[in-house]
Amino acid sequence: MNSPEKILSEIKGLSIEQSLQYLIKTFPGKVIFSTSFGWEDQVISDIIFRNNFPIKVFTLETGRLFPETYYVWSRTLERYGKPIQAYYPNTAAVEHLVGSKGPSSFYESVENRKECCAIRKIEPLKRALSGNACWITGIRAEQSQNREDMEPIEWDEANQIIKFHPIFNWALDQVKAYIHQNNIPYNPLHDQGFPSIGCAPCTRAVKEGEDFRAGRWWWEDQDKKECGLHSS
Ligand code: ADX
Ligand code: SF4
Repeated sequence: MNSPEKILSEIKGLSIEQSLQYLIKTFPGKVIFSTSFGWEDQVISDIIFRNNFPIKVFTLETGRLFPETYYVWSRTLERYGKPIQAYYPNTAAVEHLVGSKGPSSFYESVENRKECCAIRKIEPLKRALSGNACWITGIRAEQSQNREDMEPIEWDEANQIIKFHPIFNWALDQVKAYIHQNNIPYNPLHDQGFPSIGCAPCTRAVKEGEDFRAGRWWWEDQDKKECGLHSS
């Protein structure tokens, strides 16, 4: 049985490349990486694409992304020439949501916001993960209190999948240094006060000294700031 604990002990001390190779061998054809094109994800995409690792890369195209996110998506395709699969929300579900509540219902209540995230992110995520065994993400411990309590390898009960966060212990400066040293395309919003970038209507810049995720769903209470992708 490949428990997260066993995998963690196997990859302890290995480089990111070696850890990914171990996972590819352990779960052949069933390792998948989700990118939102934030700079953490750009580091991981670079490692996957440059090494030609057989890991499927996908993004959740919520329909509400920033123009800058599409820009870095295109630059990434140009740079590596590798496929990035886009998963869209179910058309009927979005039509019903927007038709009944309008295009900005997420500002009205946490319930409405979670409904929009469920339609635009969670359901497509489930489709993307289906049939896979290991999900790679760009989560870092430093990003929030919630995330500090996570493990670099964990079992995701909601999605019944092993989750691996290869740069879990990296500091932001390490991420930036990797991006600049390797001349990797990145989202220009990062240079405009956006450490964390999600959907455009739900993300704003943060002020000096504010938390990484302070600009995400900024109108909600601090402890509700997860969209459900990483709720475990
Ligand atoms: S979120 O839950 O608040 O939206 P965050 O933006 O911090 O997540 O990103 C954490 C990780 O979740 C990313 O490194 C990426 O693996 C995944 N992720 C977030 N948003 C998307 C997206 N739109 N498409 C694909 N993966 C995503
Ligand atoms: Fe909808 Fe905002 Fe969630 Fe994006 S982040 S899916 S726009 S509520």
